Amino acid sequence: MNRRLWWKLSGTLALGTLVLFWVISFLGATTEQQMSFIARKHQETLKDWGHTAERLYLAGDEQALARWLEQLQRDENTWAAVVRSEIQPLAGSELSSQFQEGFRLGRNVEWKIHLYFTENPIMDLTFADGHTHFLITLPQRMRPGAYLPEARLFLKAALPLTVLLALCLVIYRHLMNPVRQLELATRQFSEGNLGARARALLGNRNDELTALAETFDQMAERIGDLIQSQRRLISDLSHELRTPLTRIDMAISCVEEGIDTQHFLPRIRRECDLMRALVEDTLTLAWLENEQPELNQEDLDLTDLVDTIAEDARYEYPEHHIRTELPEQAEIRGTSHRALAQAIENVVRNACKYTPAGGTVMIRLQEEAGGYRLSVEDDGPGVPAEQLEAIFRPFFRATRIRESVPSGHGLGLALASRHLDAIGGRIRACNLAGNGGLAMHLWLPAVRM
Ligand SMILES: Nc1ncnc2c1ncn2[C@@H]1O[C@H](COP(=O)(O)OP(=O)(O)OP(=O)(O)O)[C@@H](O)[C@H]1O
Ligand SMILES: [Mg+2]
Repeated sequence: MNRRLWWKLSGTLALGTLVLFWVISFLGATTEQQMSFIARKHQETLKDWGHTAERLYLAGDEQALARWLEQLQRDENTWAAVVRSEIQPLAGSELSSQFQEGFRLGRNVEWKIHLYFTENPIMDLTFADGHTHFLITLPQRMRPGAYLPEARLFLKAALPLTVLLALCLVIYRHLMNPVRQLELATRQFSEGNLGARARALLGNRNDELTALAETFDQMAERIGDLIQSQRRLISDLSHELRTPLTRIDMAISCVEEGIDTQHFLPRIRRECDLMRALVEDTLTLAWLENEQPELNQEDLDLTDLVDTIAEDARYEYPEHHIRTELPEQAEIRGTSHRALAQAIENVVRNACKYTPAGGTVMIRLQEEAGGYRLSVEDDGPGVPAEQLEAIFRPFFRATRIRESVPSGHGLGLALASRHLDAIGGRIRACNLAGNGGLAMHLWLPAVRM
């Protein structure tokens, strides 16, 4: 069985999870990066405060600077100061210009801020002289990463949940669509629509579920055929039973009225036997069609069997010339004696029945690759060419039958062909050239396949 569904599902799941991980880690890194800087407008405010402090400092009004600082600390609920850094190089060392230009007591407002510090960082706005600094602990309202918890919640819960739900939905729909179609076909079939099929509803897909739909179709085909043939059998059987029943009815009426009882009683018996045979044959046919049974596996000599059947036919039709051409021995293994005997008997009996008295029935048995060919040729009227296949249908009678031949029920050949099917054989009919009798060809396997 192909495992396409497995590959499709595991592929979708693996790829979806991979993409999900990648998206989460990419979005996490980008959001954190973007949240790590002080907002531009806060940067501007801090720079403005630096300029104000510098202006007040340069004006030399220390009182005003102190008041302003006081006010700012109160307003922003933070710490702020203006300080001077005088660095004294020792032991004859010198300060590099790179150190002097970059030296700060706190952080530049444009630098990235670590989001996980518990304390807010101290910002440094250095005055133009390079060694006086306006320092301020970053006010809480300016701290970046205000939405970090929400962003983390989104990335760690909402996003994976949504993506996984979407993934599950895709997989669910992929599985459920064909299952629904199958359910629809099954429901239609169970409601009596014997033509309901599932495979065509599944379009171009090809996986385990389409295999299931194909199996359903095969089952529906077989059950549909069975139901049709059973319906036909029942209707044909009731039709066939009507005539003997009417005859019995009439005979009973005559007996009741005391008319020719001696004549009608055996007639009723005959009709009853006929009806019993008819019902038994129909039941055997239904059994062979329904069950496709495993018949007994026996070994037998076909030459013996055909010889016995020919002998019986000679006894039954003493005026016919029943000839046989049989090999010394024709062993068949693993077959059913009963099925084979009934099939051959039916064919031989037909040949005798439809051959006029004094005519010849030729029975030939020849070995063929893998089995035996049994031909039964007669002197009868043959069958119209277009009916050569139809004669194997139950209750079918060909049109070209001599008036003198009592018409049967049309079950013999149907049974013979089903019996041969059951033991792996075949049967075929053709008209003989010349005087136009019928030839029946049976192919029988030497060993049951
Ligand atoms: N040897 C034959 N020659 C001419 N017609 C035949 C021959 N064998 C069969 N048929 C035709 O095929 C029909 C079907 O044959 P089949 O043996 O199934 O039924 P039947 O002989 O009519 O009845 P049953 O066998 O049930 O008593 C027959 O009614 C007959 O018309
Ligand atoms: Mg017959």
